[in-house]
Amino acid sequence: MNTLRWGIIGGGLMGHEFASALGRWFALGDAAVRVEALLVAVCDLNPAALKWFERVPTVTQLTSDADELLANPDVDAVYIALPHNLHREFYLKALRAGKDLLAEKPFGIDLGAATQVRDEAAKLGRFVRCSSEMPYFPGAQRVWTVLSSNLDSLGRILEIRAGFHHCSDLDEHKPANWKRQNATCGEAGAMNDLGMHVAHLPLRLGWKPSRVYAQLQKGVSERPDGRGGTVQCDTWDNALLHCDVLINGENVPMRWEFKRMAPTETNTWFLEVVGTRGGVEFSTKFPKTLRVFQIKNGEQSWNSIDLGHKSAFETVTGGNFEFGFPDSILQMLAAFASERAGTLGDRLGMVSPDEAVASHQIWSAALRSHAGKRAIEVA
Ligand SMILES: NC(=O)c1ccc[n+]([C@@H]2O[C@H](COP(=O)([O-])OP(=O)(O)OC[C@H]3O[C@@H](n4cnc5c(N)ncnc54)[C@H](O)[C@@H]3O)[C@@H](O)[C@H]2O)c1
Repeated sequence: MNTLRWGIIGGGLMGHEFASALGRWFALGDAAVRVEALLVAVCDLNPAALKWFERVPTVTQLTSDADELLANPDVDAVYIALPHNLHREFYLKALRAGKDLLAEKPFGIDLGAATQVRDEAAKLGRFVRCSSEMPYFPGAQRVWTVLSSNLDSLGRILEIRAGFHHCSDLDEHKPANWKRQNATCGEAGAMNDLGMHVAHLPLRLGWKPSRVYAQLQKGVSERPDGRGGTVQCDTWDNALLHCDVLINGENVPMRWEFKRMAPTETNTWFLEVVGTRGGVEFSTKFPKTLRVFQIKNGEQSWNSIDLGHKSAFETVTGGNFEFGFPDSILQMLAAFASERAGTLGDRLGMVSPDEAVASHQIWSAALRSHAGKRAIEVA
């Protein structure tokens, strides 16, 4: 069996999630991935963040110097989970050091950064994918199966609604971090933060918007800085993108919603597609429930189907148990490892560099749309 030895650069919130998911790698069925994956090295500037990784028995290198980690011949691929302003520099560094790359969204702070990373990866022939784990929930997978292999069963598509909602930023006393400022999060704000999760499936289906009208909003302009003072927060917190997308020769309205201020929502990803003869909907707010719109004997109904743990990559977890966020990260890592090894088959792959660039083209058009209060053609 092949072994995939990982390094992490950026051992914060997501670095911890990544390491924890890898720690459950043995839960994947042997037939599912056929690659052994383990974490061997971690880099972070913050000694406390680094110290946390001492609990991972396979880690042999803890360093504050990314070049040191990238020079480690035991590292095959790196997961880089850094603030957005650092993506371009560290992604390019990793590629040039000969490592494959699991990048975090938004894959560079803006379109220029994303394009440069995509082109460098292609030039050097490295395997690169970008993070988006929510489509690996079983309910999302069921929606994906209908949309990718049986779209015609829905009839003429009437409407698509997709989004990602959070509520924690409604607390105006919450101290600001790098995600609240354009300089570190990027001008696209909530689109950079949440957009890739939403764009992943539509882009894979070829549903790239041709035109977008965007409404962007800021919620809290000043927050505590965590050191007794305050700091300006200049990022967009909420974004509504009203898009045109061409499906089977018809223009279909598609709405994407990215909200860091959505009352009561903790980490809600959803996708709803409705046609004249059927529809499918899944939201992580009801993680077991797939909703299906049907017309039978002249009667219309939305039916709810309770789903278990049946995932794209089989695990030891019984089919009757629930699925959650850490499971989706494990599934996503399985997708990376198996696609890299050539064993993905017909399963959903992670976001490709081309798709990441396409997402930035859409965010750029959305920024211009909001500034000019008019619809903009997407490049
Ligand atoms: N896939 C998801 O669901 C998801 C969720 C949250 C964040 N993210 C993405 O993950 C990335 C990181 O976000 P986070 O929430 O983990 O951030 P974080 O602030 O929790 O962690 C970033 C870490 O990077 C370290 N760091 C900063 N500069 C460094 C440098 N020069 N060298 C080494 N380490 C350095 C910091 O000390 C910190 O520990 C972002 O791209 C973000 O958009 C993805």
